[in-house]
Amino acid sequence: MASSREIKVNGQWIRLDNTPPTTPLLYALRNDLMLNGPKYGCGLGECGACTVLINGVATRSCITPVSAAYQKEITTLEGLGTEQNMHPVQQAFVEEQAAQCGYCTNGMIMTLVALFERNPKASEDEIKQELAYNLCRCGTHMEILSAAEKAKA
Ligand code: FES
Repeated sequence: MASSREIKVNGQWIRLDNTPPTTPLLYALRNDLMLNGPKYGCGLGECGACTVLINGVATRSCITPVSAAYQKEITTLEGLGTEQNMHPVQQAFVEEQAAQCGYCTNGMIMTLVALFERNPKASEDEIKQELAYNLCRCGTHMEILSAAEKAKA
């Protein structure tokens, strides 16, 4: 039986007894669990760099207290696939060279994974709408959209 201060991260239950409940989930993941897939961008819930899945829903972990994730399943970029066996969305990002600096890539991928889980045949407009609040300052938007199309194929 899981204790009340546990979260399930990438399939593994983890106790967070020493992490204050108000700590942002992003800090717990990055600092306590050394999962650096989710990035700190704005810290305000606006850029999407910190996106993780909580019970399959794309969530901004910088503004989510860890207590909101107790007893829930968290998936980070690290939980999607391995270098040898990537998730189709990760694979498509590599093939389409959809990263320039790469800082937004975590959020883009996690947001698309959640979208395709609930809508595998999402249209281009739906993909654009979903990614509208994931900010990329480099300008690889076209490659990101190509990767999204490839991943759903
Ligand atoms: Fe969380 Fe920007 S770092 S939305």
